[in-house]
Amino acid sequence: MKIIRSVNNLKQILKFFRDNNYIISLVPTMGNIHDGHLELVKKAKLMNTICIVSIFINPTQFDQSCDFNNYPRSIKLDCKKLKSYNVDIVFIPSVLTMYPSGTNNYTCMYVPSLSEILEGSKRLNHYKGVTTIVSKLFNLIQPNLAFFGEKDFQQLVIIKHMVYDMHYNIKIISVPIIRETSGLAYSSRNTLLDKDDYKIAHKFYLTLKSMADKLKHNIHCVVDLIKITTHQLEKIGFIVDSLYVLDYKYLTCITNNSTNIIILSTVWLGKIRLIDNIKVKIFK
Ligand code: PAF
Repeated sequence: MKIIRSVNNLKQILKFFRDNNYIISLVPTMGNIHDGHLELVKKAKLMNTICIVSIFINPTQFDQSCDFNNYPRSIKLDCKKLKSYNVDIVFIPSVLTMYPSGTNNYTCMYVPSLSEILEGSKRLNHYKGVTTIVSKLFNLIQPNLAFFGEKDFQQLVIIKHMVYDMHYNIKIISVPIIRETSGLAYSSRNTLLDKDDYKIAHKFYLTLKSMADKLKHNIHCVVDLIKITTHQLEKIGFIVDSLYVLDYKYLTCITNNSTNIIILSTVWLGKIRLIDNIKVKIFK
């Protein structure tokens, strides 16, 4: 496994792989590698590709500098885990490499509307930061395939939209959420939960799952179910930041005829913000 930090070295090695007709896949991450990331890597390796994992904690997608500063960093352990999964290249650029003109006045990539709703309405420049960094990685690496988890579902929809609009010749492969046995979705932020909060964190998923089971048989009760589920979550100790039931493909409002929908939610547990979602197929 090669660890590369500079654009020149990256270009050099990519040229070799491209000249030899290898298929190149990219797994973009912000590090603190967990089983969710490793599932993306597994999929990339199963497809016989040269797998590049980028580790870059992207400052422009954080609203608050304290959130950026507190983001867990574990490069040594990350590289160890990635090596054991036969990753070919780990790209670990510096902020200056990714933002040569700095992070205040940077040239950006922005997907309008989709970046402004739901999570985007609360975290003002978050998705602008995400699409900017992902497009920079796409431009530098020009992968054939790029892998994204479904946990941040809005991010996935926005990136697919960017690829479509910008004519990137990159296939986006989405990978379902990987959960701990308790049901808690793997997340880099889980390591920031204190002991007591960690013990109840899985109840976030269990409560959403029970909502999904009810919804699947009766889409008409959605308004009541949102109220009941919010109450249940708050009783457990979560502060509900958002709980939406939307059309799965376009993240628009559901109608009585909707069949493929998604429950999206974010909650606070102590100082940590958790995010999760469940797709629901409605029985008619
Ligand atoms: O999902 C993430 O970890 C980040 O948003 C991404 C896609 C690596 C961009 O920084």
